[in-house]
Amino acid sequence: MKKEDIQKILEDLDALKCKTAKDVEEARVRYLGKRGEITALFEEFRSVDGAAKREFGRPLNELKQKAIAKIEELKAALAAIEDESAPKADPSLPGDPMELGSRHPVSIVRQEIVDIFRKFGYDVAEGPEIEDDHHVFEALNFPANHPARDMQDTFFVSAGHLNPLLLRTHTSSVQVRAMETMPLPIRVVCPGRVFRNEAISARAHCIFHQIEGLYIDENVTFADLKQAILLFAREMFGPETEIRMRPSYFPFTEPSAEVDVSCNICHGKGCNICKGTGWLEILGCGMVDPNVLKASGIDPEKYSGFAFGMGLERIAMLKWQVNDLRHYFENDLRFLREFNTAIEV
Ligand code: DAH
Repeated sequence: MKKEDIQKILEDLDALKCKTAKDVEEARVRYLGKRGEITALFEEFRSVDGAAKREFGRPLNELKQKAIAKIEELKAALAAIEDESAPKADPSLPGDPMELGSRHPVSIVRQEIVDIFRKFGYDVAEGPEIEDDHHVFEALNFPANHPARDMQDTFFVSAGHLNPLLLRTHTSSVQVRAMETMPLPIRVVCPGRVFRNEAISARAHCIFHQIEGLYIDENVTFADLKQAILLFAREMFGPETEIRMRPSYFPFTEPSAEVDVSCNICHGKGCNICKGTGWLEILGCGMVDPNVLKASGIDPEKYSGFAFGMGLERIAMLKWQVNDLRHYFENDLRFLREFNTAIEV
């Protein structure tokens, strides 16, 4: 065993440079592996005499420590370089597209109708879904025990006393609230959710949506009602649309009518949407009954008005020919995505 052997390896270690992890591993094997140069010196050391052991023991151990330290140092240096060259987040890249939710078809229709009536100068009013008997029935000229109440099968929240709480069966309750609180003349539309105790099927649901309209001023006539509905129908269904009015009955209007629009699918020729008639029913309306004006403190001698009410799901059905009401409430994403008008960012 010679001092120069140790010295030589020390110098080699000092000069050692590695570019890759593979180089470092090769260096480790060359010096410290089973057949490595330093390992070989240790082998040799086992068979030297006592004096040589004393002479070489310490330098040999130092050499080994130095080799281990050098290898670690090279590894660390490489890891640092790799870190730096690792791809960094590039803030100039476009972001992941964010999918916005889409508007529900009922909400799209509500917005369209509200926008049309806003253009005509109507305000928007809302009222509570849990209402009292007074606003849903009594003030709308449905006296207690009157058979007209059967037209709307009601969910009662608290029954039994004079003015029970219930889930409103129509948004006409909001016209009562408007008449009670708003200054005259009144021009409002009242969109909202309504509830009826109906068995759920393709054609009926226990929850649906309506929009109510009310106009009260001096000298409002049936001709004004007809004109308002005609203008609305043409904005909503196209400028060629015609309307027809059929006499009907509602306790809160007199006279009352149901309104049909000319079928915008077959343009009056008759198809399966209009069931061959060329007409589609869209709403109920009429002149506000003097009893209703009186019940909310408005003088029927001085004022008159008209009201109308329509079902939003019904309008959506006509617009998109989705003829099963249940689709509107089941939140099936495959259905909802068909109305995806949202802009992807
Ligand atoms: N409230 C009625 C219903 O739910 C709809 C309606 C008909 C409202 C005629 C009106 C109207 O304001 O004048 O069936």
